[in-house]
Amino acid sequence: MRNSLATLALVALLGHYSAGQSTQADMKSEQYRPQFHFSPKAHWINDPNGMVYYKGTYHLFYQYYPEASVWGPMHWGHTTSKDMVHWQEQPIALYPDSLGYIFSGSAVVDANNTSGFGKNGQVPLVAIFTHHNPKLEKEKPEQVQSQSLAYSLDEGKTWTKYAGNPVLPNPGITDFRDPKVRWYEPQKKWIMTLATKDRVTFYSSPNLKAWSKESDFGSDAGAHGGVWECPDLFPLKHNGKDVWVLIVNINPGGPNSGLAAQYFLGDFDGKHFNAYAKKTKWMDYGPDNYAGVTFSNTGNRTILMGWMNNWQYANKVPTPSWRGATTVPRELGLKDVNKELYLTSSPVKELDALAGKTTSLSNLTVKGSSDLTAKTGGKYNTFKLELSAPATNDFSIVLANEQGNELTIGYDKAANSYFIDRTKSGKTDFEKGFGKRSTAPRLSTDKTISLTLLVDVASAELFADDGLSIMTAVFFPDKEFSKLSIKSATGISLNKLAFTKLSSSVQ
Ligand code: FRU
Repeated sequence: MRNSLATLALVALLGHYSAGQSTQADMKSEQYRPQFHFSPKAHWINDPNGMVYYKGTYHLFYQYYPEASVWGPMHWGHTTSKDMVHWQEQPIALYPDSLGYIFSGSAVVDANNTSGFGKNGQVPLVAIFTHHNPKLEKEKPEQVQSQSLAYSLDEGKTWTKYAGNPVLPNPGITDFRDPKVRWYEPQKKWIMTLATKDRVTFYSSPNLKAWSKESDFGSDAGAHGGVWECPDLFPLKHNGKDVWVLIVNINPGGPNSGLAAQYFLGDFDGKHFNAYAKKTKWMDYGPDNYAGVTFSNTGNRTILMGWMNNWQYANKVPTPSWRGATTVPRELGLKDVNKELYLTSSPVKELDALAGKTTSLSNLTVKGSSDLTAKTGGKYNTFKLELSAPATNDFSIVLANEQGNELTIGYDKAANSYFIDRTKSGKTDFEKGFGKRSTAPRLSTDKTISLTLLVDVASAELFADDGLSIMTAVFFPDKEFSKLSIKSATGISLNKLAFTKLSSSVQ
């Protein structure tokens, strides 16, 4: 009897423990569960962290609270992938400690063992992250955040915190966080780009342990409607020369009033970032792409993933067993439009592995509304839609269900802008202002619009004009969308419409 009681107690305990954990079957069928984006089996995530490619594996760490589906004491969760599409969740990499919670940061391959963490020829992976000490929040807010290190000698499986932490103590700046580190080959040193309240500060180091300030950028440039967070600095080739891109996430103060990622283009000489222009450009105009940074060590590809959520309502979205997902990985590039250079984002080609049957329709003329449900199969949980049309008239893509929910994505000719309208998309009342229409200017001057739209159960990512105008938005219909139509009040002839079902990458 004793034994069986003990067994029952154990079963009850395990049952309790696993109550919030989704099983694999759940993950394929749970309401709102993404099927080709990374989301944790259970509980809360926010920013992607420490993204690094090493020996054929993409490592994604992330801000994680393993005890509830709301923000809490931050850990670094960990997941790995061979293709950035199929993810395998791993044990937690970093736990809070006496110096505080583990906030956002990056990871590098220290190939020359500059840190000395490698023993007997081992190459260390080094994570550089913010320690956030909640005990100091009240008394010494200007000392709460500092930068620390952890290293892995087994290809990212396990991590050891450096005994000399913090390596960059706080000089008296309340918001002092989110280090993104890269190797600067011309001067053989590491460069850290750090968010320091209303600007970014660049530090350099020979060994990742001793850091010296080089310069700062941004107090008189860009958008300042909110605090600067999660920066990234990297070069992209343009006409054979390096153009440096500085990404800075800002919350709030974005183009659709909430948070967003701004960027600047310029030169970097190992000390200063000189922007070509002080005016902000926006990487993504939708409400749900935040804290995006790029993978280290991906050679000549530059790949970014963001957190597909928004601080305004992230703690309240109607997915109680887990909250948060990443965007699809996006390959970044540059494109000239009338002598003005812009950053472009396109879904990585690895996603093509999920492509099923494509239904192609050409020369489709729409006047009023054209229902494509019968032709495209009536199930709109995971798909890619490619469309091209002359930029002469308004049109929209409408997803709907029997419950009267609607998600509308389209082009507004008069405003020359794209939009995602989730006003009537289903559950919107968990946050005032969630059900709104967001817009993105059309930057391209091509006569033809080309769109790629990725829909994954409860998210839409719009890539327009070869990645020039981007929007990301989550939504929560009462029931799956079961109808697809194209609308155009003024009438439009589509050059192309291709609908491709995408399979699940949940494993
Ligand atoms: C951005 C952010 C970071 C911080 C982390 C805390 O979303 O606020 O600045 O490091 O989240 O979880």
